Amino acid sequence: MHSFEELSKDFAQKFSTRHFPEKPASLYDPNEYFLSLGGKRVRPILVLMGNELFDEIVPDAWHIANAIELFHNFTLIHDDIMDKAPLRRNMPTVHAKYGESTALLAGDVMLVSAYDHLNKVKSEHFHKIVHLFNKTAKEVCEGQQLDMDFEQQETVHLEEYIHMIELKTSVLLAASLQLGAILGGASKGNLEDIYAFGRDLGIAFQIQDDYLDAFGDPAKFGKQVGGDIMANKKTFLMIKALESCAGAQVQEMKRLMKENPADKVERVLQLFRECGVDKWAFDLKDKYLNSAFGHLENITVITGRKDPLSNLAHFLVQREY
Ligand code: IPE
Ligand code: IPE
Ligand code: MG
Ligand code: MG
Ligand code: MG
Repeated sequence: MHSFEELSKDFAQKFSTRHFPEKPASLYDPNEYFLSLGGKRVRPILVLMGNELFDEIVPDAWHIANAIELFHNFTLIHDDIMDKAPLRRNMPTVHAKYGESTALLAGDVMLVSAYDHLNKVKSEHFHKIVHLFNKTAKEVCEGQQLDMDFEQQETVHLEEYIHMIELKTSVLLAASLQLGAILGGASKGNLEDIYAFGRDLGIAFQIQDDYLDAFGDPAKFGKQVGGDIMANKKTFLMIKALESCAGAQVQEMKRLMKENPADKVERVLQLFRECGVDKWAFDLKDKYLNSAFGHLENITVITGRKDPLSNLAHFLVQREY
């Protein structure tokens, strides 16, 4: 068994080699730039852990881990265009540095490269693996579109928000685990439980992401704090504030969203604090984390084998970046 730290180190080392051709540099340098910025590499680690929960790590797991991390980075490059984000991993985003057209194409070719890695998989479950990968990729697109649609809606219900983050974020974590578990020969029941664990953990992970976007320490977060507020994202913070603040505060919030004054972020944050929605975040996150651990318990392998996953889960929901 390997710990989160060991797997991170191994994956980071293997993944740090060049991924793209030299020419045209105007297309491939942006991708090399972005990949060189690192990131937590959570999803490939989940592939490896999903595999190792049931068996020794097989070479196919590394191919899938590479494919998943490239796919994730592709989604981030395009997400940063959609969210007009200037910063990621403490550095300028690809579109901010190289322009939107280049960022679109660099993301596209990164997605295709993900499939090159997937195509190296030798497992007898190849078709099942590609099916899950594609199903997940489509769901991420659906979630991303809902996220954009919600910016234009005045109100969104909590259940709609949870559905949206399940699609845009948590299915990729769940699929990463399940892909690894498929390689490990997990039973149908275990495959379902590990997916459900990843899904609920992914929801808690995105809740933490949304919390940090509003209340994170800019020095640690690596992204622009307040970006979600600027874009009128309907995060659970905004949803809860619109539901539970006093009438005058709700009117003020709606006005800030319409008028976009220069001090919008500070004033919305002030309202969030006044209504106590920051504290409410911890309850919501805990609810999904506990549910995730329930599914992890159901997996029929000896408890000790679950330690790396459970450590990773705690890190993900408490992270500051
Ligand atoms: C960012 O994912 C996108 C979300 C789904 C919140 P990560 O927080 O895993 O980003 P990196 O790869 O570590 O930068
Ligand atoms: C992004 O959600 C999810 C995907 C990239 C698919 P966010 O827009 O909240 O992610 P960050 O905060 O930019 O990393
Ligand atoms: Mg974003
Ligand atoms: Mg986004
Ligand atoms: Mg975010």
